[in-house]
Amino acid sequence: MNELRIWVTGAHGKLGQNLVSYLSENEYMVLPTDQEVDVCRLEEVMHYGESQRPDVIINCAAITGISKCERHELDAYKVNTLGARNMALVAQRIHAKLIQISTDDVFQGENDQKLNEFEKPQPTTVYGKSKLAGEEFIKELYPKHIIIRSSWLYGNQPGNFLYDLFKQVVNNQQVEVSKEQFSSPTSVLSLCKVIEVLMNGNEYGLFHASCEGQCSRYEFARRALEIAGYSPDHVISGHNEYGQTGNFVLENLMLKMTDIYTMPSWQDDLKNFIEQIKGDLNEKEEV
Ligand SMILES: NC(=O)c1ccc[n+]([C@@H]2O[C@H](COP(=O)([O-])OP(=O)(O)OC[C@H]3O[C@@H](n4cnc5c(N)ncnc54)[C@H](OP(=O)(O)O)[C@@H]3O)[C@@H](O)[C@H]2O)c1
Repeated sequence: MNELRIWVTGAHGKLGQNLVSYLSENEYMVLPTDQEVDVCRLEEVMHYGESQRPDVIINCAAITGISKCERHELDAYKVNTLGARNMALVAQRIHAKLIQISTDDVFQGENDQKLNEFEKPQPTTVYGKSKLAGEEFIKELYPKHIIIRSSWLYGNQPGNFLYDLFKQVVNNQQVEVSKEQFSSPTSVLSLCKVIEVLMNGNEYGLFHASCEGQCSRYEFARRALEIAGYSPDHVISGHNEYGQTGNFVLENLMLKMTDIYTMPSWQDDLKNFIEQIKGDLNEKEEV
């Protein structure tokens, strides 16, 4: 068993669930919490931190839906901004390393732009603004932090683009996918790996961590089906509801400069991810 005690907030979420499994499989001592330790409530957060004394805090708690954040602005700022501030305060109190997960939605980019960590963010959505404000609180309050921005996370749980795609295709449905939305799809597994490397290293600060290269959702969906052995023609060009604020990609400049980790291409990442979940795909077929 690894000595590090790691508190993962938002542990029931898409990233949180995968991160808890990944770290547990790699024999870390994981302390997962979700709504039962409300990140918006400073006293609750302090109490948990002081009683459990984690060495590392990975804050995955968030409100992430773009339209949900627009409709519930106060809640979005409470969780994404005040919650991040509270995690900085508790990390400071117990001297834990703080890893904050953030997003490319802090930017509003144009086609084909590659945005590194030193580009000025200009969020246009409540989600992006509240996440950026959370980053800023952490930077102001506690230097022993790592902020990781990623993009287009996919995993194998309901509500994930890839999961929903396979479910529909297994049921012989055609799926409309946008040719207009471009980004760098990144599997939760790849993000877990880079989180682990940064957690164990001596680097601090802001890191972009997305897969290399870019594609449209349409291209991504067709490639996923091909790799899994389905006809890509289940995917047709059209509209889909997975929101995104602009067509641009994150440049992983800090990872490259520090030479601490190389993110895979989105194609290699997807192939590797589908290999890992192949058993689940077969189960879907048997249902
Ligand atoms: N998904 C993506 O494509 C993507 C891309 C880039 C970056 N990110 C970042 O990755 C991180 C994790 O995202 P995700 O996709 O895993 O989000 P998610 O699935 O929405 O998970 C967030 C978790 O936080 C919980 N939570 C909400 N309010 C809380 C509170 N007050 N106290 C404690 N827990 C609370 C949520 O519970 P409820 O479900 O009950 O609300 C949920 O379990 C976020 O910081 C996000 O900005 C995500």
